Amino acid sequence: MKIPLVDLVAQYRSIRGEIDQAIQSVLESGTFILGDNVAAFEEEVATYLGVRHAIGVASGTDALLLSLRAYGIGPGDEVIVPAYTFFATAEAVSHVGATPAFVDIDPKTYCLDAAQLQSKFTPRTKAIIPVHLYGHPADMAPILELAKGRGVKAIEDNAQAIGAEYRGRKTGSLGDAGCLSFFPSKNLGGYGDGGMVVTNDSALAEMARKLRTHGWRTKYHPEMLGFNSRLDELQAAILRVKLRHLDAWNGRRREIAELYRTLLAGSEFELPGEAAYAKHVYHLYIIQVKERVVIQEHLRSLGIASGIYYPLPLHQLQPYRHLRHHSESFPEAERAAQETLAIPLYPEMTDDKIEAVASGIREAVASSQLSGRKLVGRNVAL
Ligand SMILES: Cc1ncc(COP(=O)(O)O)c(C=O)c1O
Repeated sequence: MKIPLVDLVAQYRSIRGEIDQAIQSVLESGTFILGDNVAAFEEEVATYLGVRHAIGVASGTDALLLSLRAYGIGPGDEVIVPAYTFFATAEAVSHVGATPAFVDIDPKTYCLDAAQLQSKFTPRTKAIIPVHLYGHPADMAPILELAKGRGVKAIEDNAQAIGAEYRGRKTGSLGDAGCLSFFPSKNLGGYGDGGMVVTNDSALAEMARKLRTHGWRTKYHPEMLGFNSRLDELQAAILRVKLRHLDAWNGRRREIAELYRTLLAGSEFELPGEAAYAKHVYHLYIIQVKERVVIQEHLRSLGIASGIYYPLPLHQLQPYRHLRHHSESFPEAERAAQETLAIPLYPEMTDDKIEAVASGIREAVASSQLSGRKLVGRNVAL
């Protein structure tokens, strides 16, 4: 049985009629950029998240970039980001000319450790970007309190967590701005790139709208340098269909996580948990184990995919080596990069596949014990 990490074709087949119709109607309309579907999708996402404004852009990376630029963050400024996230979180900071200041993660959630934030502030700090990594919310209350107290912006990287909740409120709606990605494999993914800035800040919304179209409100009359960064009509039409299924898909993701928890109970390694404040949407299901390669190899021999997100923490990536962080500066980020492994989880996954993955993992653990290789995971209770 071949089991991929995510099966986008199975998802398409499950909603083919609706999707084909949506695509057809865009083709028949002759409008492909910033038309009715983008406007409607922006309203629908704003309603879904409980925010006043949503601005469709070309990608999640651009959502971050435009938010930072809209807040006037640039050369000489610092922006606090977790040391362990997808590169784009920091890349956007660097692209506006600011410097990312890394902070270690909380090993229980893989999100920025709010307890370490205070020490990262300098007079040059202009913003914090908490990332709701893997679909689990960062602990926003202390982050927002610190941001407010210091007069800096909180920009949520919600690329992996649409539908997740922090104390009953949707992630992305809690900070000054929220950034979404509609990369195909995301919980709400298009059939191409796409992203969105969401906010209650009207000035930010107006600025982001200008920035996405060459810095103009009125065509051919730029007020500043902007970008060409728009969500297109085809993606918006597809995403409108998919948004209607998002809660059911996230519900199934949670159900699968529960099944894994039962099937892998008693394993000697760490399974993902949910903090008391959180509703996790399991963009990825991450196990943490010292010798992940043993599990990965055995799963591969069974035709089961697994993945490493991410093999290096940000401070060890080539573009940030010049910042010369000590190798012990972010121990939890480094440990996560060495020990985490994503196993298949997608809403269309059938129970027999979930059981096959779990039994493959149990076999790997058993064989490694037989061969004297010890699989030791850390036990961090939430
Ligand atoms: C945490 C995080 N931030 C930012 C991004 C960037 O989004 P995109 O690929 O749409 O540019 C992604 C997605 O890949 C992500 O996972």
